[in-house]
Amino acid sequence: MNLPSTVKLVDVGPRDGLQNEKQLVPAAIKIELIHRLQEAGVKHLETTSFVSPKWVPQMADNAQVMAGLIRKTGVRYAVLTPNMQGLQAALAAPREQWPDEIVVFGAASEAFSQRNINCSIAQSIERFRPVAEAARAQGIHVRGAISCTVGCPYEGEIAPERVAMVARLMRDIGVQHIGVADTIGVGTPLKVKRALEAALQHYSVDDISGHFHDTYGQALANTLASLELGIWQYDTSVAGLGGCPYAKGATGNVATEDVVYLLHGMGIETGIDLDKLVDAGAFISDFLGRKPNSRAATALLNKREN
Ligand code: HMG
Ligand code: MG
Repeated sequence: MNLPSTVKLVDVGPRDGLQNEKQLVPAAIKIELIHRLQEAGVKHLETTSFVSPKWVPQMADNAQVMAGLIRKTGVRYAVLTPNMQGLQAALAAPREQWPDEIVVFGAASEAFSQRNINCSIAQSIERFRPVAEAARAQGIHVRGAISCTVGCPYEGEIAPERVAMVARLMRDIGVQHIGVADTIGVGTPLKVKRALEAALQHYSVDDISGHFHDTYGQALANTLASLELGIWQYDTSVAGLGGCPYAKGATGNVATEDVVYLLHGMGIETGIDLDKLVDAGAFISDFLGRKPNSRAATALLNKREN
């Protein structure tokens, strides 16, 4: 097997992880989490979303979070911006508080697109077009997320052709990188490979990442299958935090700790210090009053106690 020797993990915990929490997490805690993640060696983070606070109240403090960050050189800070209003809000701050990257997020399922962003797939692309153009004009990297690439909570199984179609539409409007998301964690390795192969028709292997929720416990297997295709970038969430408010019952992304343990065990570098990462996960889990949703973190925390 010709696996990548280095993998980049994008910790989406502060955004995807926290967006679904009922209890409002103060901006200071989010900032502390981001600081701890970057201290652990995470080089790319999703910090917040510039979406409607009526839709996702947890992300209403987006500007405060961006303003409070003490940035580390070499770290990329990404935020979600579904429309021009979101981009304008992200860029209303002084330049040093701007994101390095914005994420537009569409879906391979019409029903999910409607529930999540209140428009059809075609309309979403028209909304993203000026966002991508304006961001690129400012030198901000543009990433796209495609939700429901293997299954949708409303439409069931999704054909790979739909993933290819949305990937092509995103490429045509200047989206530079796409994340292939298994939003509800129903994917298994061969299905996930087919979704990624569909994306590979329009993006190079260096411009695709995997974004796997772990609802059915398949995310590590799906990660390994994706590594076999040469995919070397993954979104993961510290302590396995999260879920999408518009995908009921779906759990968080695969835990960053579990993926780091898998990769390091296979001799694949991430640049992340697993012990410090476990501390970051314990910090936010303590705040939320629960245990980290990560087998590796649980094992390592137990080992420390004994
Ligand atoms: P809309 O209602 O169609 O927008 O929402 P609108 O343009 O008609 O505006 C309606 C109201 O929203 C107005 O306010 C606007 O000002 C406001 P009002 O006049 O009623 O007071 N508004 C905004 N406010 C703040 N920031 C904005 C913004 N845009 C409009 N950017 C919209 C469209 C996309 C805004 C809405 O549907 C929304 O916010 N949805 C939330 C989507 C979301 O955050 N989902 C979770 C993240 S995606 C995800 O988790 C999946 C991912 O992880 C991959 C995977 O796992 O699948 C990425
Ligand atoms: Mg997600």
